[in-house]
Amino acid sequence: MAEEVIVVEGTSTLSGEVAVSGAKNSALKLIAAALLGQGASVIHNVPLISDIEVMSEVLRRLGARVERTGHSLLVDTSEADGIEAPYELVSKMRASISALGPLIGRHGRARVAMPGGCQIGARKIDMHILGLQELGVEFKVNHGVLEASTPHGLHGAQVSLEFPSVGATENLLMASVVAKGDSIIDNAAREPEIVDLCNMLNEMGAHIEGAGSSSIEVTGVPIESMHPCEHTTVGDRIEAGTFLVGGALTGGPLTVRGIDPSFLRMALMKLRTMGCEVETGEDWIRVSRSEPIMPTDIQTLPHPGFPTDLQAQFMLLASLAQGNSVITENVFENRFMFASELLRMGADIFLDGHHAFVRGVPALQGAPVSSTDLRAGAALVLAGIVAEGETYVHAVEHIDRGYEDYVGKLQGLGASVRRERI
Ligand code: UD1
Repeated sequence: MAEEVIVVEGTSTLSGEVAVSGAKNSALKLIAAALLGQGASVIHNVPLISDIEVMSEVLRRLGARVERTGHSLLVDTSEADGIEAPYELVSKMRASISALGPLIGRHGRARVAMPGGCQIGARKIDMHILGLQELGVEFKVNHGVLEASTPHGLHGAQVSLEFPSVGATENLLMASVVAKGDSIIDNAAREPEIVDLCNMLNEMGAHIEGAGSSSIEVTGVPIESMHPCEHTTVGDRIEAGTFLVGGALTGGPLTVRGIDPSFLRMALMKLRTMGCEVETGEDWIRVSRSEPIMPTDIQTLPHPGFPTDLQAQFMLLASLAQGNSVITENVFENRFMFASELLRMGADIFLDGHHAFVRGVPALQGAPVSSTDLRAGAALVLAGIVAEGETYVHAVEHIDRGYEDYVGKLQGLGASVRRERI
């Protein structure tokens, strides 16, 4: 069977302007949230990526009508009476678990296939479950399916998360907005995508305060008072950060549009300390570099710390720095698979537990490599752009999960890159 790969000819300069799509990690949850407003919600700036197709299919299986027009998605949940997110979809995309909170909120019960482990760590859901139990949800696992019920109804509670989990915060929000009484989510995730979700829920009739801080207050409202809405997804900070690393690698100048620079404060700070010039406007960021790349010390942390989803891209940048860098992964336990692919291209990286010691090399060489997850895949294409010779990136389906028209956007920036069936 023919396999589709991305073929990259090195070495080209990435420069010019690129528009980022709507945030994958926001849009996925906004689609799930539409379940709480019975009727037709419209979500704009939804990226054309395969993960969105999977979430749309989850909603369709629940009985919703999901229709796309360009980058707008109509999600009509008037007749969404289903309560089950099946294994075949949850196993394709772990974020299907985001249907749990709104299903509980809407029906008082849900059946969601247990997500398995995944390549970037065990990715448990214990915090989702413990938090929802505080709100009155009871759980059973039956033949691999997580069954949730609320025999005494959903009630408000003070929930303290052990770690500011993005997914757990979102599921707790989508259930607590329609719980009886007030809730407080402490040690909540502060990602911009959480703020986006809270904005949409408030537009639908919820009462949430404190989104973007680590303590979110929710005043529960009856499910009947939630209504559909029209909402525009925020820009994708990880896509923006990926292109900015491309500009930093090749010198640029490269401008990303459609992104609030405050979403990327830590990453922009690192780009500056690594020798780049960074300018920002209201919804754009420009990077250029005329000096050598300087080494760095990066620790991934929940927002506003350095995002784990940009770790691979910055490891690539550090690989071409003049000196030694240390990268520490604190969010996912097994997120260095990218390093072994980059080694095949001539990088010098030593792994010790959750630390990567990166010794800068003068150049990388093109090689056949394989995407290990979507961010690693995107970074490998960038590696091919700066490497000498040709790079074949395999397992491109990972990239398609999260990057809309990645190849087309890179071509627009001057890269010699194409998709090919081999
Ligand atoms: C989301 C993003 C992902 C990003 C991550 C961290 C989506 C679809 N995905 O993933 O791109 O890399 O945030 O910014 O939005 N954990 C537990 N128990 C739980 C929940 C999480 O142990 O119940 C652990 C996970 O295994 C992981 C860490 O907490 O080690 C962070 O996970 P979390 O913030 O929940 O990430 P996701 O929502 O899965």
